[in-house]
Amino acid sequence: NQSDVAGTFKAKLTAGQSTVRFADGLDTPVLAYNGANPVIEAREGDRIEIAFRNEIPNEPTTVHWHGMPVPADQDGNPADPVASDRERVYAFDLPEGSSASYWFHPHPHGLTAKQVYRGLAGIFLVKPKEDPIPAEYGDTVLMFTDLRLAADGTMPDSSMMDLMNGRVGDYVLVNGQKNPVMTMARGEKRRLRLFNATNARFLRLKFENASMTVIGTDGGLIEVPVAAEELLLTPAERVELIVSFDQPGAAKLITLDYERGWMGPGKPDEAAMTLLTANVSTETAPRVSPLPAKLRSIAPLGEPTITRRFVLTESMGGMNHGNMAHNGMSMSSDMGMKFLINGASFDMERVDEVSKVGQVELWEIANQADMDHPFHVHGTQFQVVEHEKDGMVTKPAYRAWKDTVNVTAGETVRFLLRQDLPGLRMYHCHILEHEELGMMGVLDVR
Ligand code: C2O
Ligand code: CU
Ligand code: CU
Repeated sequence: NQSDVAGTFKAKLTAGQSTVRFADGLDTPVLAYNGANPVIEAREGDRIEIAFRNEIPNEPTTVHWHGMPVPADQDGNPADPVASDRERVYAFDLPEGSSASYWFHPHPHGLTAKQVYRGLAGIFLVKPKEDPIPAEYGDTVLMFTDLRLAADGTMPDSSMMDLMNGRVGDYVLVNGQKNPVMTMARGEKRRLRLFNATNARFLRLKFENASMTVIGTDGGLIEVPVAAEELLLTPAERVELIVSFDQPGAAKLITLDYERGWMGPGKPDEAAMTLLTANVSTETAPRVSPLPAKLRSIAPLGEPTITRRFVLTESMGGMNHGNMAHNGMSMSSDMGMKFLINGASFDMERVDEVSKVGQVELWEIANQADMDHPFHVHGTQFQVVEHEKDGMVTKPAYRAWKDTVNVTAGETVRFLLRQDLPGLRMYHCHILEHEELGMMGVLDVR
């Protein structure tokens, strides 16, 4: 029992070039952290010190600790790049109650989307001092990334259509592999942590021949387990599940079609892709402890003292969609396509909102655009209170900590948020191409 042990967790992390063989006989140049997509595992109460080195030739980068309550100057903001061939240390403490499934990725402005689709992403698990989930369920990480390969095995640059809709690849990889296979005994239960680390792919997921129970979201465990037939995991979101493999045969994690608003031609066929297969044997698994009825308590954030409103819009530079589709490949982002928050495009030198440490706020995100936009805030976790669309208000089925929430076209989402640390924080659409094209703002917490 290591429940009282807390210490300093030190690691070295290097971003650099590597190659992977995704297709027979072809080497694909990628970017990687320590040559891969690493999983960092630490514990609540730990002090973290990560010695980072940028070995990407001629490109600055940063390491952003997505969802984690780290000081603003340690959070890999676009304004704090690490130049090529340079080093820095990222240091922070993991507070009590911070156990969750986080991830990390680069955030250098103008290069974020490109560095992520080329492979830079990692997982950061913060474990609690006492885990209510039985250890017999294991703890398996499933990280989804999206890959597009040209005939020569390289990753093609993004087209105009990719910038507009967000870059969606040819297929989804799970922990770097296409449709990996797991072996299970009948009746086995597994704890699975799912991470959408794609640039822009919406994953509407379902398990065939296995049953899913949601136990956690972006910011850790929810209060009680909730059975789910299917779930939507938008870019940057995470979910923790207990999956029961009760039927012998093949249990598959598949995707279903989802209408997220697509402009122009080339909408990828998102349905009926098999992401993962579990071969369940006829042999019965040994009995395991049941899942506890109560996982943890989440106190409501309380009454907000102020309300902030953020309106999301798209501006296509005066061109209609048909023109764009026709000329798609030859045009670039500087033809005027913008994704805006309150009418403004991201400016690193501008502060958009000023807030106070410890103040409870109601954020209202109104999507007045034609596409869904998954909205993310740095440095904290928030509580969604309601969704409003066409005059209908719906409340979430359960209270949860989130750092990214999908706002569908025409919808308004309201959430409560409190920032406990001072400094500059970003908020943005996590379709990374939209973030690059301006759908990001700066919150100054004082
Ligand atoms: Cu995944 Cu600005 O964040
Ligand atoms: Cu983030
Ligand atoms: Cu968006």
